[in-house]
Amino acid sequence: MQLKFDWLIVLENLHRGIMVTDVSLEGPAGPRIIYVNRAWMKITGYDRADIAGKTPRILQGKHTDRNLLRALGDKLLNREVFHGQTWNYRKSGQPFMMNWYCYAIYGDHGKAIYYVAEQEDATELETLRMKQRLLLNPLDPDVNKFFAVLAEYKSARKQAR
Ligand SMILES: Cc1cc2nc3c(=O)[nH]c(=O)nc-3n(C[C@H](O)[C@H](O)[C@H](O)COP(=O)(O)O)c2cc1C
Repeated sequence: MQLKFDWLIVLENLHRGIMVTDVSLEGPAGPRIIYVNRAWMKITGYDRADIAGKTPRILQGKHTDRNLLRALGDKLLNREVFHGQTWNYRKSGQPFMMNWYCYAIYGDHGKAIYYVAEQEDATELETLRMKQRLLLNPLDPDVNKFFAVLAEYKSARKQAR
C-alpha cells in the first residue's frame, strides 16, 4: 500500500520555525520571504499578511548582532551551513534570542534555488545558561548585557502603560 504524503501538513506542524526565502542576498529588497510555517508565526507574532514581500530584516533591531549577519552571508555564498543566534524582535517589539540554522537548497544543476532557515526561540534556555554564568562570575559582561536587553524592554513597557 502506498502512503499518501502531504509535505505541507508536515511543514506546517513542525515544532521548529521554518522560513524559506529567495536567493537574492544583495540589496535591501532581498532575500524575500517566500514561506513561513505556523511555528515561525508563533515565535515571531507575525502572520503571513505581515510578511508579504518582506525580508527577514523585519525581525532585526537595536541589539541584533551585525557581525553575525555578515557571517551568515559569507557562509551562504560559500555554500556552507550557518548556525548562530542573536537578538530578534517579535511583532510586539519584545526581544527574543533567535537561534537558527540557515543553508541553501540546490536545484538539479547545483544552483542555489532557495535559502531555508530552521529557527527557534532560545530565550528561555539562554536565560538559564546566563543565570548559571552569573553565579560563576557576577561581573561577566555578556551576562549583564543579556539581562540588560530584557530589562530595557520591561521598563519601556512599564512606561508605555
Ligand atoms: C533564509 C534566511 C533566514 C534569515 N533569518 C533571519 C533571522 O531570523 N533573523 C535575522 O536577524 N536575520 C535573518 N536573516 C538575515 C537577513 O535576511 C539578511 O540576510 C542579513 O540581515 C544580512 O543582510 P544586510 O547586511 O543587508 O542586512 C535570514 C536570511 C536568510 C537567507
